[in-house]
Amino acid sequence: HKQFTNEILERHGVDSERSAGDIEAVRLEQVASTENLRGGTAAAILEVAFRHPIGLVANALGIPPQVMLDLGQKHNVPVAALVGTKEHAMTQVAAGVDIIVAVGGEAGGHTGDISTLVLIPEICNMLDAIGDDTPVLAAGGIATGAQMAATMAMGASGAWCGSVWLTTAEAETNPVVKEKMLAASSRDTVRARSRTGKPSRQLRSPWTDAWQAEGAPSALPMPLQSLVAEPPLRVIDKLSQGDNQGAKDLATYWVGQGVGLMNEQMTAGQVVQGFKEDFITAYERLATNLGE
Ligand SMILES: Cc1cc2nc3c(=O)[nH]c(=O)nc-3n(C[C@H](O)[C@H](O)[C@H](O)COP(=O)(O)O)c2cc1C
Repeated sequence: HKQFTNEILERHGVDSERSAGDIEAVRLEQVASTENLRGGTAAAILEVAFRHPIGLVANALGIPPQVMLDLGQKHNVPVAALVGTKEHAMTQVAAGVDIIVAVGGEAGGHTGDISTLVLIPEICNMLDAIGDDTPVLAAGGIATGAQMAATMAMGASGAWCGSVWLTTAEAETNPVVKEKMLAASSRDTVRARSRTGKPSRQLRSPWTDAWQAEGAPSALPMPLQSLVAEPPLRVIDKLSQGDNQGAKDLATYWVGQGVGLMNEQMTAGQVVQGFKEDFITAYERLATNLGE
């Protein structure tokens, strides 16, 4: 796998031998961070989080560890869980989470393959049927107030956005990638295992294309694939901000299909103001239709 990533770099004019030291340094960092996945370390990190006045804690990729549920209850902090199927949602409410974040396949980052438009009513109807009033936040592809209104019309209590912040003025997104995102259409993402070992949606680039090509190695299971992909990607990220055209081409990051709706750079405040105005317009549009 390391050989394969070096070949991608070389094909795009990034000298893998010259970058080998930087790549290995990031790899060691990554190896150290896999420690965070172990029970004892995760609990210690949660203890730190709960020493701060947090309003919410969220867990992805499975049921929250019991220590997170216990600390949430002790500190009166709601515990949310990200889910991609109705079955996941059922397991999460049985485990006692306070909020379900229903993430459609359009989403950036780790995601399933059920679209938001289907997933939200599926989960809301299922909760209704079992008489469970756990609130659902809709996620996946949401970048406008009208989409928020649509998901709330389907039973969601609110929305949860990730990608839309990546092109804001405040975001620490690599400026080269930010420009690519502003120019991208909704077809310019790919859901693939090649970054972390589990399916995650990313901006398409020659890097993601290489992993999708015939003959590419299969992704290793999490967390091993991150040890393969993240170090060269971090080096690509750094070089892309200089004058290395190959690195600029290869640069990519997680983003959802909502990238097609992210067409101009705004401040986070402007995005929120836009949400409010668009939500009201959508709501009024429906109210008028009903009147007619
Ligand atoms: C760059 C990026 C990084 C993310 N990292 C995480 C993460 O570490 N943990 C997590 O639970 N979700 C993560 N997500 C998923 C978001 O929490 C959210 O569910 C998703 O972005 C919603 O869909 P959207 O991107 O279409 O708005 C990430 C999303 C993006 C775009």
